[in-house]
Amino acid sequence: MSEAHAVRPDSDEASLAEAVDFVELDTLIDDEFSKDKENLIMMLQAIQRRYNYLPKPALTYLAAKIGIPYSKIYEVATFYSTFSLAPRGRNIISLCLGTACHVRGAERIRERLHDILHIDDGQTTDDKRFTLESVRCIGCCSLGPVMKINEDMHGRIATDEVDKVLGHYE
Ligand code: FES
Repeated sequence: MSEAHAVRPDSDEASLAEAVDFVELDTLIDDEFSKDKENLIMMLQAIQRRYNYLPKPALTYLAAKIGIPYSKIYEVATFYSTFSLAPRGRNIISLCLGTACHVRGAERIRERLHDILHIDDGQTTDDKRFTLESVRCIGCCSLGPVMKINEDMHGRIATDEVDKVLGHYE
C-alpha cells in the first residue's frame, strides 16, 4: 500500500478548522495588518508562512473580518502559484526539472525521491514531513541537478546523497 497520497483542499474541513488558531489570526489581521483589505496579499503570505498552506477556514474567517467575499480571496490565492490551498508538508522539496538540470540527471533524483518518500510531484508524505513540487529552473543551472528544500539550495546532488540530505529535515 502506498505511504502517501495527494491531499485534497476540501478534505475534512472540520479538522482543518480545529487546526487554525483563530486568536492568533485575529492578532495578525487586526494588529499586524489593521484589518485593511489593501494588505490582502501580505495577510495571505503570513497565513501561508504559519500553516505552510492556506487553510480554507482561515480564509473564510479572513473574508468575513476584512469584509470582502471569499470568492475574491480564492481568486487571489489561486492566481499566484506561490500560494497553496492544499495542506503541504513541513518541508517543501522543489526539484528542478528544467532543461539544464534534466540533462544533468534530475530524473534520477526524482526517482530516488520517489523510492525513499513514496511520493510523486505535488504529493505529501503521510507524516506531513515532505511535499514534493517540481519546478522549471530556479536560476542556478550550473549547479544542476538542483533540489531546493525550503530555502536551502542543494546543487550538483548525486542520487546516493539524497537520503543524507533529507535526513537534515524533520
Ligand atoms: S534548469 Fe535547473 S536551475 Fe536552471
